[in-house]
Amino acid sequence: MTVEGVGRVRKGDLQLTSVNPAQKSFRVCVVGSGYVGLTTGACLAFLGHRITCIDQNTCKIEAMKRGETGIFEPGLDKLLRLAAGNIAFTTSGETDLEQADVVILAVGTPSLPDGRVELSQVREAADKIGKNLTGDRFRVVAVKSTVPAGTGKMVKDLLRKASGRKGSTSFAVASNPEFLREGSAVQDMLYPDRIVIGVEERAAAETLAALYRPVLEQEFVPPPFCPRPGGYGFPALITSDITTAEMIKYAANAFLVTKIGFINEIAGLCDYTGADVTAVARAIGLDHRIGQHFLRAGIGWGGSCFGKDTAALLNMGSEFACDLPVLRGAVEVNRRQRLRAVEKLQHALKGVRGCTIGLLGLAFKPNTDDLRDAPALDIARRLLSMGARVKAYDPVTMNNCRTLYPDLEIEYAEDVISLAEGCDALVLVTEWEEFTHLPLASMAAVMNRRVLVDGRNALDPPEVQKEGFVYLGFGRGTGEKFEGDILVQREHK
Ligand code: UDX
Repeated sequence: MTVEGVGRVRKGDLQLTSVNPAQKSFRVCVVGSGYVGLTTGACLAFLGHRITCIDQNTCKIEAMKRGETGIFEPGLDKLLRLAAGNIAFTTSGETDLEQADVVILAVGTPSLPDGRVELSQVREAADKIGKNLTGDRFRVVAVKSTVPAGTGKMVKDLLRKASGRKGSTSFAVASNPEFLREGSAVQDMLYPDRIVIGVEERAAAETLAALYRPVLEQEFVPPPFCPRPGGYGFPALITSDITTAEMIKYAANAFLVTKIGFINEIAGLCDYTGADVTAVARAIGLDHRIGQHFLRAGIGWGGSCFGKDTAALLNMGSEFACDLPVLRGAVEVNRRQRLRAVEKLQHALKGVRGCTIGLLGLAFKPNTDDLRDAPALDIARRLLSMGARVKAYDPVTMNNCRTLYPDLEIEYAEDVISLAEGCDALVLVTEWEEFTHLPLASMAAVMNRRVLVDGRNALDPPEVQKEGFVYLGFGRGTGEKFEGDILVQREHK
């Protein structure tokens, strides 16, 4: 099966049975095969580059050799199968590092209790890479891990020290942050809004621009399971110095956190005034300077990135005695937000002691099995500490939860009906698609009392109320609808 030549012409309708031929195929080593490293390696392999994923975890590497990603990420396993001819996995990789054109550093950078970023994996990876930067061929070492502004210089020093080439220019360091969302990582990698590269020299920028050319020019045939989004154009390429690129990553996540914090603050006031925050969000989001996304009020954000990155940024601020009150406030709003769900239950049930509460969803967001910083866990802990009985149903991550939190006394249900049995209230915690059309009548029939806290403002209050539930959202207003001769609401493009 031949794929037409590459160029700025796009092909969306060809059925692909293997990988795309890259304009220039690079030999790439990806050090660290976690969620970011594996997604990056799989996508670059699919785009026609020759990838070696290196990880010190033997079990993980052996699993990936069997085609098992070990990660719940829609499409990633299919992509790895498509790209199998272009990707290899190893715990060593010394030879591959020596021969690589580009090395991508994608190891973990976990958060320390005081917010500082733990860089030991970055140091170990830089040392391993440096020891194998032999020869005079020009290579780029791109840091994709999220690292504090200024870390690029540390990596460069470590590479020079490990390679024994104090003044050598046979390699360049770059920053290449990722903006992948869990649950849509493959899409975010193939169809990004922008690609950011931070460099000290032009040759590094040219190398990375060539590496990402298939994405920048959208000249690949999309995978059947991840088509090019309608209306998608071409991503921007942002080139900056290394520190600026590192800061771009933090600023992006900090702004998303601030946007969510803002709408949750407004939702809190809407709970008192009776305004409908979803209508407020839609109306302000139509202002092109604001935008519709990330204005969904509810129990707030979780996940592995927002908490870690905001803590790191606040720590950076404190190291420079630079106060960040806007970000601090957004983080504080979020800390309180998830427990607002418990307060709503206390009010509606006149106390939760002895009550049975059913959690609809455990994952921190839909289409992932990730429980890191999941609001469900804090909500369950608070309810249990107040003497309530807690049940939960999640279509994907219940086993994960049992394994990771064996001491959390949650009763796991097999489906939404068995979850509802005997409950006094339900809390919609994760807006899984199946929870947006619940069999409410059947659930109401088996409940003790019928309170529903909509933690994601995902349901329609009248639909819920007509099944006999007390509906409690976040800033959903009085529910009055203007029934007059409604003017035609043209959808703003
Ligand atoms: C985020 C960033 O979006 C991504 O660019 C970065 O690389 C990693 O961190 P992720 O955490 O995977 O991605 O998920 P995202 O879709 O951003 O949602 C994060 C959290 O915000 C979720 O808990 C979600 O429920 C919450 N959220 C999101 C809201 O509460 N309201 C919103 O309007 C949007």
